[in-house]
Amino acid sequence: MKKVLALVAVVSLMAAATVASAATIKNSKHDLSSGSTATFKSSGVGTSTNQICVFCHTPHNAIQNGYPLWNRSAASGSFLLYSSGNMKNQYGALKASQGFTTNSVSLYCMSCHDGGLVAGRIHNLPLDNGKVIPTMTPAADQITSTANLGTNLQNDHPVNFNIVNFGGAIGTSQNGGKAIGGLTTTNLPLFNSGRGTSSLECASCHAVHDPGYVPFLRTTNAGSYLCLTCHNK
Ligand code: HEC
Ligand code: HEC
Ligand code: HEC
Ligand code: HEC
Repeated sequence: MKKVLALVAVVSLMAAATVASAATIKNSKHDLSSGSTATFKSSGVGTSTNQICVFCHTPHNAIQNGYPLWNRSAASGSFLLYSSGNMKNQYGALKASQGFTTNSVSLYCMSCHDGGLVAGRIHNLPLDNGKVIPTMTPAADQITSTANLGTNLQNDHPVNFNIVNFGGAIGTSQNGGKAIGGLTTTNLPLFNSGRGTSSLECASCHAVHDPGYVPFLRTTNAGSYLCLTCHNK
C-alpha cells in the first residue's frame, strides 16, 4: 500500500511538473523557420531555412565572445531610453539619453524590434539553404506591427539600468522571492551590463523562448501579477 501511495505521489509530482514546464519556442512568434505556423517567417523554395535557432544563435563563429552565442549583427543606430526625475535608480555616468551600454542583453532584442532587418542581420548564415540570407514573409524582412518599438524607447518601461535602490516609489515585493538591493524579483532575472551587475533588461520581464504567458512573459500578468512582483502598489 505504501508503495502505491509513493507511486501516486510521484505520478502527481510528474503531472505538476508537466503543467509548470515551459512551452516551446516551436510555432511561437519567435519561430521564424519555414516550418513555423507564425505569420512572420522564412518562406520561398530553396531560399528559406527550416532552422529556428539560427535567427539568433550559432554554435560556431558567433558574433561575440561568450553569452549567448549570438548570431546577429548589432542593432544599428542610436537609442534613447526612458528616464524620469522620479527614478530612484539612476543610469550612472553613462546617462540614459546616451542609450544602451554595448553589452546590454536588451540590444539582442532590439536587433529585430527596432524595425530594421530581421533575416538580413543573420551573421553566420544557415547551411540548409546554401548559406544565403533566407527570404522572408513579409518580403520586406522588417517588423511593422506594434512589436516594432523603434529606436526611441523613452515611452517604454526603463531598461538597462542598475537596480540598487528600491525606495517608496518602487515598493517591496508582494509575491515573495529573492531580494536584490532591497528589490524583490521573483524568478525575474537581472543581468550584468555596463551599468552594473543587477541590471533590469527586456529579458527580466520577457522569456524569449517561451510563449506560455503571452507575449513571451516570464510569468502571468493577470491581475498585473508581473508588475506587482516588483512594485508594491
Ligand atoms: C528570437 C531570438 C532567439 C531565438 C530564435 C532563440 N533564442 Fe536562445 N536566446 C535569445 C536571447 C535574447 C537570449 C539571452 C536572453 C535570455 O537569457 O533570456 C537567449 C539565451 C539562450 C540560452 C542561454 C540562456 C537560457 O535560457 O538557457 C540558451 C541555452 C538558448 N538561448 C538556446 C536556444 C535554442 C536551442 C534555440 C532554438 C531552439 C534558441 N535559443 C532560439 C534569443 C533567441
Ligand atoms: C523586474 C522588476 C520590475 C517589473 C516586473 C516591473 N517594474 Fe516597473 N520599474 C522597476 C524599477 C526598478 C523601476 C525604476 C524605479 C525607480 O528607480 O524609481 C521601474 C520603473 C517603473 C515606472 C516609472 C517610475 C518612475 O519614477 O519614473 C513605472 C510607471 C513602472 N515601472 C510601471 C511598471 C508596470 C506597469 C509594470 C508591469 C507591466 C512594471 N513596472 C514591471 C522594476 C520593475
Ligand atoms: C530574430 C528577430 C527577433 C529577436 C532577436 C527578438 N524578437 Fe521578439 N519578435 C520577433 C518577431 C518577428 C515577432 C512577431 C512580430 C509580428 O508578428 O509582427 C516578435 C514578437 C515579439 C513579442 C510579441 C509576442 C506576441 O505574442 O504578440 C514580444 C513580447 C517579443 N517579440 C519580445 C522579444 C524580446 C524581449 C526579445 C529579446 C529578449 C526579442 N523579442 C528578440 C522577432 C525577434
Ligand atoms: C517591466 C517589464 C517589461 C520590460 C522591462 C519590457 N517589457 Fe515588453 N512587455 C511587457 C508586458 C507586460 C507586455 C504586455 C503588455 C500588454 O499586455 O499589453 C509587453 C509587451 C511587449 C511587446 C508586444 C507589444 C505589442 O503591443 O505588440 C513587445 C514587442 C515587447 N514587449 C518587447 C520588449 C522589449 C524589446 C523590451 C526591452 C527593450 C521589453 N519588452 C521590456 C513587459 C516588459
